[in-house]
Amino acid sequence: MKFFVDTADVKDIRELNDAGLLDGVTTNPSLIMKAGRDIMDVTKEICSIVEGPVSAEVTAVEYSGMMREAEVLSKIADNICIKVPLTLDGLKACKALTSDGRMVNVTLCFSANQALLAAKAGATFISPFIGRLDDMGIDGMELIGEIRTIYDNYDFGTEILAASIRTVNHVKQAAMIGADVATVPPATLKALVKHPLTDKGLEAFLADWAKTGQKIG
Ligand code: E4P
Repeated sequence: MKFFVDTADVKDIRELNDAGLLDGVTTNPSLIMKAGRDIMDVTKEICSIVEGPVSAEVTAVEYSGMMREAEVLSKIADNICIKVPLTLDGLKACKALTSDGRMVNVTLCFSANQALLAAKAGATFISPFIGRLDDMGIDGMELIGEIRTIYDNYDFGTEILAASIRTVNHVKQAAMIGADVATVPPATLKALVKHPLTDKGLEAFLADWAKTGQKIG
């Protein structure tokens, strides 16, 4: 499973990338707002840190505006992946952009039928939002399973990018179902390393080591 980090915070991106954990980055207008920086500047910096796809989202809602914005965003770097919303205009833009060799992430997916349409439009990634469905009392993970089945039935090449991840369990479940990628907030990504028995075990080893009075090197 590939890991993308879901943030526009370059400090977190650098730290996770240096740890070898990152295959890409996803941003959205809310994350750009949170970062408090100019979209072009911050996206350029992110693209220089991470080698993999960096999703940058269009904000126009009509096809021609999306295409204009995609043109501007694409010029930032070669690893830009254009993010479009799951609307008819978004799918049209997806088809045009992927036919032109661009990477496209179709976002705001909440149903298997939407995911089917995105695959038919040639999407590089489909982003089903797990947490936002869970928030409504609908099992978001079920959607990941449905999309996996449909994509496998027809051999679609579109990668399932599990999004709106809120917990470490979301990551595990998405991996077990076979999502190709998980985009995870920095804190959740860092929390994956944690286990109380690891901390306890390390503490015991260090206590015993101190009793030997030895040093390595
Ligand atoms: C995906 O690309 C989105 O940026 C993100 O996962 C949305 O997550 P949220 O529901 O926590 O805002």
